Amino acid sequence: MSDPKFIEPEQLERWFQRLDQLLFHYRAFWQLQPFHCCEMAWRDSHPQLCELLDALTDEEILELETDHIALINLLSPWLEDAKALAELAELPALEARELTLPPRTDYGIPGRKWQQILAFAGTVPQSQKPLLEWCAGKGHLGRVFALADQRSITSLEWQQSLCKDGEELAKRAHVDMQFVHCDAFSPQAAGYIASDNHAVALHACGDLHTSLMRHWSLQQGGRISVSPCCYHKLQGEAYQPMSISAQQGQLRLNKSDLKLPLQETVTAGAGVQRHRQTELLWRMAFDEWQRDVRGVDEYLPVPNVRKSLLTESFTEFVRWAAECKQLPVPTTLEEDRWLALGQQRLENVKRMELVMHLFRRPLELWLVLDRALYLQEQGARVALGEFCEKHLTPRNIFIHAERI
Ligand SMILES: C[S@@+](CC[C@H](N)C(=O)[O-])C[C@H]1O[C@@H](n2cnc3c(N)ncnc32)[C@H](O)[C@@H]1O
Repeated sequence: MSDPKFIEPEQLERWFQRLDQLLFHYRAFWQLQPFHCCEMAWRDSHPQLCELLDALTDEEILELETDHIALINLLSPWLEDAKALAELAELPALEARELTLPPRTDYGIPGRKWQQILAFAGTVPQSQKPLLEWCAGKGHLGRVFALADQRSITSLEWQQSLCKDGEELAKRAHVDMQFVHCDAFSPQAAGYIASDNHAVALHACGDLHTSLMRHWSLQQGGRISVSPCCYHKLQGEAYQPMSISAQQGQLRLNKSDLKLPLQETVTAGAGVQRHRQTELLWRMAFDEWQRDVRGVDEYLPVPNVRKSLLTESFTEFVRWAAECKQLPVPTTLEEDRWLALGQQRLENVKRMELVMHLFRRPLELWLVLDRALYLQEQGARVALGEFCEKHLTPRNIFIHAERI
């Protein structure tokens, strides 16, 4: 992004208002947890929609998951604003400049991560201002800026061992980098933000990137570029909107709503997918079993399972889950019966998630616009876009702001 295209303040506001209105209007279609539902959530309110969903084959569902236009066309009779929502979630693809780097700068960095770093660094507007790298890990991103633009870099990171590794890597590369072992939430961390530096955060989770934005506004920071991720990683249960516009908006979100934008996994291989399918089926079948045993028609969350258990039997899985939840551990189990009930639940979940797909990116945009409006309210002009294609990372949104 050699020359950021800043958005007009009123346009940002209108964009947010329209999204807020539509997401609120259609909330019954996405603000729910399909795993908790024994039936398709809209069976009574929209029986014809449910009939249509029931009739879809596995192949058709798979196709619709990747063909957004076909999905919009299919569901438009019930969701007449589906196309408008998709348009509201569109962002421009930002152009990244080519960075000139010495050979082997990617030493020790996995391929996909390296591509993300190059795309993000190339998108940040070029300048000579000192750069603050927020939640830096080993400082790979900062090192790229130091090598490409000879900028002075401060990399702030909570894990001491990562700071040490980062210092080693900086020494190897002969670059000027200062590692600060510090908690991003602390006042000390805020002290590294200044009006003449540029704060960057690539994939700082949840509260970590919002804390940077809050510190930035308090410290009257100069420039900031962030790619948000893991919106649900926050301290409380309810989402606290950052901007006045979102605080006054209609939508109220909780932690589980915030997981919706992240449900797009482009990176999982076939083996992982197979395990995931088994795990989902067993979890659903266990849920049917536990409702019967407890006599309580309510979802019971089960902790993360060790992957090796998924290669054993369903009965073993139920024994483990029952023990975790202090339920009577069965000696034998009618596996076929519970698995058939679990399979039916899974079929419903797949279909509900298909409908929810339409709302993932619009919800992510709502969250991003909340951040952008906050920065605007704090006296900045803001540019937005995608810094890489989705196959590199679905968390590809770039928020850039400069104090006016
Ligand atoms: C998802 S990683 C991103 C690392 C790097 N920006 C990148 O894209 O490769 C998040 C980083 O934040 C660091 N972190 C977590 N909590 C933190 C805190 N409270 N203060 C500072 N850093 C923190 C983690 O140790 C980790 O290195």
